[in-house]
Amino acid sequence: MVEVGLILARFLHYAATTVLAGLSFFPLYAYVDREPEALSRWRRKWFMATAVAVLASGLCWFAFAAANMGGNIGDLVDAETLGAVARDTSFGILWMWRMLLAALIIGLAVWCLRLRSTAPHWNPMMALLAGLLLVSLAGTGHTQIEEGWSGVIHVISDGGHLLAAGAWLGGLFPLAIILHRSVMTGVVSKNVDQILLRFSVMGYVAVATLIGSGFVNGWFLVGSFSELLHTTYGQLLLGKLALFGGMLALAVANRFWLVPAMHKGQTDVVDESATWSARLRTHVLGELFLGWAVLLAVSILGTMQPAAGQ
Ligand code: HEM
Repeated sequence: MVEVGLILARFLHYAATTVLAGLSFFPLYAYVDREPEALSRWRRKWFMATAVAVLASGLCWFAFAAANMGGNIGDLVDAETLGAVARDTSFGILWMWRMLLAALIIGLAVWCLRLRSTAPHWNPMMALLAGLLLVSLAGTGHTQIEEGWSGVIHVISDGGHLLAAGAWLGGLFPLAIILHRSVMTGVVSKNVDQILLRFSVMGYVAVATLIGSGFVNGWFLVGSFSELLHTTYGQLLLGKLALFGGMLALAVANRFWLVPAMHKGQTDVVDESATWSARLRTHVLGELFLGWAVLLAVSILGTMQPAAGQ
C-alpha cells in the first residue's frame, strides 16, 4: 500500500515538475516577437496552478517516502518520523529546500498573475527557478549510489536528463493548448507556424540530450545487455524505451508530414489547414500521454533495485 502511494506521488510530482519547467521555458524559445497577451495570461494561470500541484505532490512524495523508511503506513502522519526524516536524512534536507523553493515559485506566480501586462522580464527568473526545482531531483534516488567522480558524473547527467524531459515533455503541454485554441478558432496564425518550427528545433536538442544522458544513466544502473534483458528493472526500462520510440515516431510525423501539410494548406484552402492542425493536436496529445507513461515507468524504476549487479 505504501509502495503504491509512493509510486503515485512520484508520478504526479514528475508530471507537475516537468510541466512547470516546460511552461516556463516556452516563452524563451517559442516566439519570434513578444508573447501575445492572451497566450501569456493563460500560461501564467497554468503556471500558478501547476506550481500548487508540484508542492502538493512533493509533500505526498515526502510523506510516503518517510512511511516507506519507517515501514509503517501510520508514519505517513507521524510527526516524529516525518521530523526525523526531514532533519536527519540527506533526502529529507534536500526535500525541505525543494518544498521551500516550490512555495517561493507559487508566491511569485500569484504576483505575476496580478500584473496587468505580460512582464516578459520575469520569464527568465521563472525558468531559472522552475529549472532548479526540476534539476534538484537529480540529488535523490539512484544517483546517490555512486561516490567520487562517478557520483558527480551521474548527478550531472541525470540533471541534464531531467531538464531535457522538462523542455520536451513539459513543452508539449503549452503546445497542445495553443494548437487546441487554433482548432477551436479555426484560424492557424503565422504565429502558430513559427512556434511549431521553433519547438522542433528545441526538440532536436532535448531528444539528443535525453538519449545521451539516458545512456549514461543506463551505464551506471543497468551495467550489461544481459542484465537489461533478464532483470525486471531492465525489462521495465525497455518498456520505457518503447514508449520513447512511440513519442519519437509521432514527433517525426509531425515535423516532416503534418507541419508541412498544414503550411501548404494555409496557402491553398482555408479550412484545410484547420483539418491539419486538428490532426497535429491529436498527435501532440498522443506524444504527451506517451511521455506521461514514460514518467510512470520512471516512478516505478526509481523504487526498484537497479539491474547492475543483480
Ligand atoms: C521522453 C523521453 C524520456 C523522458 C521524459 C525521461 C524521463 C526520465 C526521468 C524523469 C527520470 C528520473 C530521473 C531522476 O529522478 O533522477 C529518468 C531516469 C532514467 N532514464 Fe529517462 N527519460 C526519457 C528517455 C530516456 C532514454 C532514451 C533513456 C535511455 C537511453 C533513458 C534512461 C533512463 C534511466 C536509466 C534512468 C534512471 C532510472 C532510475 O532512477 O533508476 N531515459 N528518465
